[in-house]
Amino acid sequence: MSNPSLLILAGDGIGPEVMAEVQRIIGWFGDKRGLNFDVSEDLVGGAAYDAHGVPLHDDTMAKAQEVDAVLLGAVGGPKYDVLDFSVKPERGLLRLRKEMDLFANLRPAQCFDALAEFSSLKKDIVSGLDIMIVRELTSGSYFGEPRGIFTENNERVGINTQRYTESEIDRVARAAFELARKRNKKLCSMEKANVMESGILWRDVVTEVHADYQDVELSHMYADNGAMQLVRAPKQFDVILTDNLFGDLLSDCAAMLTGSLGMLPSASLGAPMENGRPKALYEPVHGSAPDIAGQGKANPSACILSFAMALRYSFDQGGEADRLEAAVEKVLADGVRTADLMQADGGTPVSTSEMGSAIIAALDASL
Ligand code: IPM
Ligand code: MG
Repeated sequence: MSNPSLLILAGDGIGPEVMAEVQRIIGWFGDKRGLNFDVSEDLVGGAAYDAHGVPLHDDTMAKAQEVDAVLLGAVGGPKYDVLDFSVKPERGLLRLRKEMDLFANLRPAQCFDALAEFSSLKKDIVSGLDIMIVRELTSGSYFGEPRGIFTENNERVGINTQRYTESEIDRVARAAFELARKRNKKLCSMEKANVMESGILWRDVVTEVHADYQDVELSHMYADNGAMQLVRAPKQFDVILTDNLFGDLLSDCAAMLTGSLGMLPSASLGAPMENGRPKALYEPVHGSAPDIAGQGKANPSACILSFAMALRYSFDQGGEADRLEAAVEKVLADGVRTADLMQADGGTPVSTSEMGSAIIAALDASL
């Protein structure tokens, strides 16, 4: 049988430098664990715009549809702020999500013990935090029609449409219930059923799907209250299910609870392909961080942990994913810190590649 295939889209800013460390990790799993991947690389975001005048070339889109999983670094940068909306780097990422139909975005927010003091919240509120946000990713106000800027009565009107079909809610709800089943069996669904019809439908459909998952405890919350509860007492949650736009906001909020954006991975999953694997794209939650790009300062952990999610969700290698996550945790516990994880008072930060090396050493030690 041929090796599973990976398409690496390192993208912009710190994307390429953190992805270089992921490549080393992939190499380690090939050498030491006999897990070999056919890796190809291509461009996305500003890098694709510079080469082709579009943030995602059609050939790259076609490749993404064929591989077993896509690993993405980051897109965007100030250089591209002036571009027309239709060719901005973000459009490349949104096209991948939409055309691969990656409807379930898994965003874990986990507080590593060694980093609990980095949270802007009190340590006891966040230590041990382990929640999973499931964000709908291919519909809602990000994609709803009509959209655009129109002229009415001699003034401009900006329009976006929040639109959800039953089947779109049903499939992402099932993904969230399945995950909850494997975790602490608690699911909280967030919408604005008090002001939005799409929220009423969301609540109805999630409640219907619950009939198939009676072993999971379901609750509903208005999304604004959800934001407040996330900051007040985040450990009350296990899995949070929400729509595309609320999910964008709530996942940034949850990410910051952990105090370390440089540590958070994500997975975007679609329907199963012929080989049974889900369509999948894995990416760190952090952005392209143009202010530190190219300086070897970036923390590669989030991107490395995104590869761990790929091992778990695309390649059925949960044990190896655990091994990689444990290696990252050990490196943190040993006090190894990139610049983003330094306290004001101190020590010398390690570089991106030194962090990669420390994680590889921890992997070696795990054998
Ligand atoms: C995210 C980002 C994206 C989004 C941007 C880069 C298009 O904020 O993945 O959360 O809004 O979905
Ligand atoms: Mg966001």
